[in-house]
Amino acid sequence: MRYVWNDEYLTGNKKIDDQHRLIFDAANMLSDAVKRGKEEQILNQAFTLLLDYVNTHFSDEEDYYEKIGSSLLTAQKDEHQSLINELREIWYEKRHGSTDAGTDLDYWMEKRLIPHIVAEDTQAQKTTK
Ligand SMILES: [Fe+2]
Ligand SMILES: [Fe+2]
Repeated sequence: MRYVWNDEYLTGNKKIDDQHRLIFDAANMLSDAVKRGKEEQILNQAFTLLLDYVNTHFSDEEDYYEKIGSSLLTAQKDEHQSLINELREIWYEKRHGSTDAGTDLDYWMEKRLIPHIVAEDTQAQKTTK
């Protein structure tokens, strides 16, 4: 398993935490499929699953922050959009070039998504109006 869940990533909201874990599972499946050089169809299925989980999660999270009146809602929406764009770019553009999709996925998980969870998702729940 490439991306290992750590309880330091817990935000304290069960639904959000469960969705974060699902994203880890899907990212691990995709990373594994890339590493094993699986055929195109399998890779695309794994990527689509990850993208679906991420989209659903971001949308649920935004609904929740809106419901609790978090002052960080707009910042979250902007950042979610960037994260989605980056993930799509990894798959649809870089993968067919010289860049290694596995390495880019590592970067996205370790330098983008996990810091977002730890710094911003944790904060967004505390900053209610
Ligand atoms: Fe999140
Ligand atoms: Fe978020």
